[in-house]
Amino acid sequence: MDQDTRLEHVAIAVPNLDAAVAVYSAVLGRPDSGREVVESEQVEIALFDLGSTRLELLEPSAADSPVGRFLERRGAGLHHIALEVTDIEAALERCQVAGLQTVGAAPRRGAGGRRVAFLHPAGTGGVLIELSERIR
Ligand code: CO
Repeated sequence: MDQDTRLEHVAIAVPNLDAAVAVYSAVLGRPDSGREVVESEQVEIALFDLGSTRLELLEPSAADSPVGRFLERRGAGLHHIALEVTDIEAALERCQVAGLQTVGAAPRRGAGGRRVAFLHPAGTGGVLIELSERIR
């Protein structure tokens, strides 16, 4: 059994990254830990390291992108949580056996060069879940 899983990050969709960074900087009393453009997801991300996990603020780079459409439909808010797994192919196979649907191509390249896959919220209690393979 794999006991080495953890909450890798929590991602929040925002319309304006600078404004959102200012809010979370005020909450945490420090600047963000870095920024990254993730072409595969059409987002720019600001990170706040939080011990063994981190917060990701996501601003879409295009209105017609997954996060852009999410903002249009639902407004700013919790977008997904990322759970770290040691072997993403094995995790996807378990999820498939459990009847869960993936979203988009899986696995693909996510932030930090990780291999990631997304599980549809319909099967997971309404939460978009990112599987994120640990970097060895
Ligand atoms: Co993510």
